[in-house]
Amino acid sequence: MKKRTITTHYECYDSVEELPENDRAVLLLAKKSLENSYSPYSQFKVGAAVLLRNGELLGGSNYENASYPLCICAEQTVLTTAANLYPGVAPLMIAVAIRNSNQVIDKPGLPCGACRQVICETEMKNNQQMRVILQGETGPIFVFENGLDLLPLAFDRTFL
Ligand code: THU
Repeated sequence: MKKRTITTHYECYDSVEELPENDRAVLLLAKKSLENSYSPYSQFKVGAAVLLRNGELLGGSNYENASYPLCICAEQTVLTTAANLYPGVAPLMIAVAIRNSNQVIDKPGLPCGACRQVICETEMKNNQQMRVILQGETGPIFVFENGLDLLPLAFDRTFL
């Protein structure tokens, strides 16, 4: 038996001003997009935004349902919107912003497992890594270079 270790990497920025220009623009759109969130059940607004290879910026938000399992995450909203509006155009980065009406969250909103899987699928489909930029309502910003850094040992099409 051999023990193996997985390490992952991310950058941590103290403020939006410190971010590279493109990262900042995408994060600001994610923050704006969370205003469109339909989240009457959780009161947890999530905004996501992507920058596509053709320069387009698109935003999306979470969309809840009284039948709870039908809630759609913001990351999935924006990635499927991008794939339909601009087929074959790869997203270069995705940003995610959050707001909780009950408390100020001062740590980055980490994408759920399903969204990490969708980010990895999008990367593989387009043969293009995606920067992932995350911030809470305040506090530090985490930047992952790609989806696999958020989901090591991901399931993918090579098994099918
Ligand atoms: N949510 C997202 O939009 N993205 C995630 O990565 C995690 C969770 C949404 C789903 C639901 O509307 C609310 O946040 C609470 O789980």
